[in-house]
Amino acid sequence: MKLLENLNWRYATKKFDPSKKIEQEDLGRLMEAVRLSVSSYGLQFYNVLVIENQELREKLREASWNQAQITDASHLFVFCNYTSRDGRHIDEYIQNISLTQGVPLSDISGYGDFIKKSLSAKSDAQWHAWSERQTYLALSNLLLACADLRIDACPMEGFEPEKYNAILGLDKQELNAVVIAPVGYRSEEDETQFRKKVRKSRESLFQLLT
Ligand SMILES: Cc1cc2nc3c(=O)[nH]c(=O)nc-3n(C[C@H](O)[C@H](O)[C@H](O)COP(=O)(O)O)c2cc1C
Repeated sequence: MKLLENLNWRYATKKFDPSKKIEQEDLGRLMEAVRLSVSSYGLQFYNVLVIENQELREKLREASWNQAQITDASHLFVFCNYTSRDGRHIDEYIQNISLTQGVPLSDISGYGDFIKKSLSAKSDAQWHAWSERQTYLALSNLLLACADLRIDACPMEGFEPEKYNAILGLDKQELNAVVIAPVGYRSEEDETQFRKKVRKSRESLFQLLT
C-alpha cells in the first residue's frame, strides 16, 4: 500500500534546505488536497494562508520559538479557524451546495437552519474547540499529500497564536491561527531523518472488540 510507504517516508522535518523551492504545480496539488478535506457538516470553517514572503516569515519565526523551519522551508501553511459564529458562513455554505449540486435553495434551507441551531447550542469554549479541530483534518490532508509528492513538512503548534494573529492581521478578518506547517525539502544535514520512527505498538494502541 503506497499510503503506508508514504507514512513511513515522512517525518517532522527539523532542518529544511532553504535553496529548494516547491514548484507551482505541486503547490497547487497541495492546496487541492487541503481543499478536499473533510469537515463537520462540510462547513470548512477556516482559511489557510500559504506564505512565501521571506520578510513576513522572519517576523513569524520570532513568534515561533525561533524555529528555523519557518524561514528555511519553501512555504508556510497557516491554518486559521473562524472566530465568529456569524450565520452568514452557513448561508454561504448552503448557497454553495445549491449552486454546485443544482438543488433549489428552498429544498435545503432547512438543513442550514438545523446547522445554525446545533452550532448555537455550543458554549463559547465548545465552539472554539470544535472549530479548531476542523483545521487539524485539513493539516492531515496536507501532510499526506506532501508525503505522496515527496515534499517534506513539519506540523507545528510551537508558536504564539496571538502574535501570528497580529502580524498577519487575522483578528480583523475574524480568524485565529491554530496550527501551522512549513513545507519544502529536507536538508541532507537533518539528523532527524535517520531516526527510527517511534510509535505505540498495535497492542497498546488498539482495543479489538470481537
Ligand atoms: C499538532 C502538532 C504540533 C507539533 N508541533 C511541533 C513543533 O512546534 N515543532 C516541531 O519541531 N515539531 C512539532 N511537531 C512534530 C511532532 O513532534 C512529530 O510529528 C512527532 O514527534 C512524530 O514524529 P514524526 O512526525 O517525525 O513521525 C508537532 C506535531 C503535531 C501533530
